[in-house]
Amino acid sequence: MGYLVAVAEVRFRRLDELTDDEVYAAYEPPGPDWLRVNFVSSADGAATLEGVSGPLSGEEDKRVFKVLRARCDVLVAGSGTVRTEGYGPLVLSPDRMAWRRARGLPEVPVMAIVSRTAALDPGSGIFTEAPRRPILIVPADLAKERLEPFLAVADVIAAGEGEVDLAAAVAALRERGLRQVLCEGGPHVFGSLVEADLADELDLTLAPKLVGPGPMRIAEAHGAGRGAQPTAAAARPLVLRHVLEAGGNLMLRYMRGSSDE
Ligand SMILES: NC(=O)c1ccc[n+]([C@@H]2O[C@H](COP(=O)([O-])OP(=O)(O)OC[C@H]3O[C@@H](n4cnc5c(N)ncnc54)[C@H](OP(=O)(O)O)[C@@H]3O)[C@@H](O)[C@H]2O)c1
Repeated sequence: MGYLVAVAEVRFRRLDELTDDEVYAAYEPPGPDWLRVNFVSSADGAATLEGVSGPLSGEEDKRVFKVLRARCDVLVAGSGTVRTEGYGPLVLSPDRMAWRRARGLPEVPVMAIVSRTAALDPGSGIFTEAPRRPILIVPADLAKERLEPFLAVADVIAAGEGEVDLAAAVAALRERGLRQVLCEGGPHVFGSLVEADLADELDLTLAPKLVGPGPMRIAEAHGAGRGAQPTAAAARPLVLRHVLEAGGNLMLRYMRGSSDE
C-alpha cells in the first residue's frame, strides 16, 4: 500500500515469445511490501470446474503461477484451498531455487495457511515435509486444544477474535521479514482481503472456457459479509499493467490505483 504506480501504456505480449527472465521481469513488484493475489477464472467468471481450479488451468498460466511463487517470501492460502486442492509441501524446481539463491533469497518461500478453526491435518505433507516451517494463521481465541497438535509442525500467527484479522496477519508476516506476499486464494480469503483493502495486485488468468452457472467466483463473502451487495462507490479501481496471451488464455496483471492518477 502507499506505492505510487507509474501508469504506463498497457503492454500486450505473447507469453511464448518471452524468456523466463522476461516473465520474471514482467512481475517485478513495485515495492518491498507487496501483496499480490493469483487466480484463474473461466471467461464467464467461474473459479472452479468440477470443484477445483485444475481444469481451468494449463501449462500456460502455470508458467506465470510458478514465477509468482518463486518471487514471493510467503505463500498464503486459505484452509479451503489447501484441503480441496490437496496442497503438499511448498517446493520449487531446481532452476527456480537457483533464481532465488542468486538474489540472496532462501531457496523456497514459507507457506502460510489461514484457518478460523484449524480444521487441518497436522500430519499432512504440507506440514511434515515442508522445507521451511509453515505458518498457521488463526484467531487469537482459538481453543488451545485445537492448536496444540500443530505446535510441533508450524509457527502460529494469532490475529483477530473469532475470525482471522487479515490486516493484522499480514502485518505479522511483514514483521517476520515476509514482505512479498503471494495469496493463491481461495475465494473466501480473497473476498476478505478485498473487504480489508489489502490486495495491491491481482494476477488473473482468464481461461477460454464457458462454464455456466454454479461455481464460486474468485471473491466470495466470508462471515458477516455474506449476502451483502457491494456498492459502486466501494468498488476499488485497478490499473491494467500488462496482458500476456498463450493458447487463448489471457494473463492480466492488475494493480491497485486508477488510470487517471
Ligand atoms: N480458480 C482459482 O484460481 C482458485 C484458487 C484457489 C482456490 N480455488 C478453489 O476454491 C475452492 C475453495 O474455496 P474457499 O473459498 O472455501 O477456500 P479458501 O478461501 O482457501 O478458504 C476458506 C477458509 O479460510 C478460512 N478463513 C479464516 N479466516 C478467514 C477470513 N478472514 N476470510 C476468509 N476465510 C478465512 C476459513 O477456514 P476454516 O474453514 O478452517 O475455518 C474458511 O473456511 C476450491 O474449490 C478451490 O479449488 C480456486
